[in-house]
Amino acid sequence: MRIRKLTGEKCFLSPMDTEDADLYAQWLNDLSVVRNTSMSSKVITKENEKDILRQLSQEHNYGIIDMETDELIGSCGLMDIDSINRTCETGIMIGNSRYWDRGYGTESLYLLIDYAFKYLTINNILLRVFSFNERAVRCYKKLGFREIGKRRNAVILEMKYHDIIFMDLLPEDFYREQ
Ligand SMILES: CC(C)(COP(=O)(O)OP(=O)(O)OC[C@H]1O[C@@H](n2cnc3c(N)ncnc32)[C@H](O)[C@@H]1OP(=O)(O)O)[C@@H](O)C(=O)NCCC(=O)NCCS
Repeated sequence: MRIRKLTGEKCFLSPMDTEDADLYAQWLNDLSVVRNTSMSSKVITKENEKDILRQLSQEHNYGIIDMETDELIGSCGLMDIDSINRTCETGIMIGNSRYWDRGYGTESLYLLIDYAFKYLTINNILLRVFSFNERAVRCYKKLGFREIGKRRNAVILEMKYHDIIFMDLLPEDFYREQ
């Protein structure tokens, strides 16, 4: 049975499990998913994904589990936690695209961010998103993230240049939005 660490209405977040390596490897080889992330140029096998999951599971990275089916649908995490300045970065990937646009991304990030503010004393969360990823930008804005700048032409994908949008979130923005 999967461990429930942070529980919402649609989904819960569970510590990462190396047993899920095959599913992660499938998603990370699906270019329609990873074109939205920095992983489209990486080589991912079932075997190296196990090692990656083992490492990721040591930090604040979690599987997103659909409450109704108990199915793993993606993952999200907090990176580069700086406990002196109380900052970190966040990232998310719903690997199973049948779950896109159904509120799972917003709810899983809500759970993770609420945890970061309340239990890890984080005060500022950064994220980066490719400028064409309007679904992700909309999801982040719903949570209270604000655009703070753009790195221009910093991604070359499918033979085109794209900007990287930087967004950040403070507790007052996050709790005002809820
Ligand atoms: C980005 C991602 C995390 C969002 O999660 P999600 O569960 O699909 O998002 P939600 O359903 O919570 O919210 C998406 C919102 O974007 C809207 N949306 C969808 N397509 C859109 C588009 N082309 N333009 C503008 N808004 C769009 C949806 O209508 C919804 O807004 P609403 O609730 O106001 O109707 C998820 O789709 C995903 O993992 N995608 C692939 C990997 C990825 O992009 N990761 C993020 C990298 S920065």
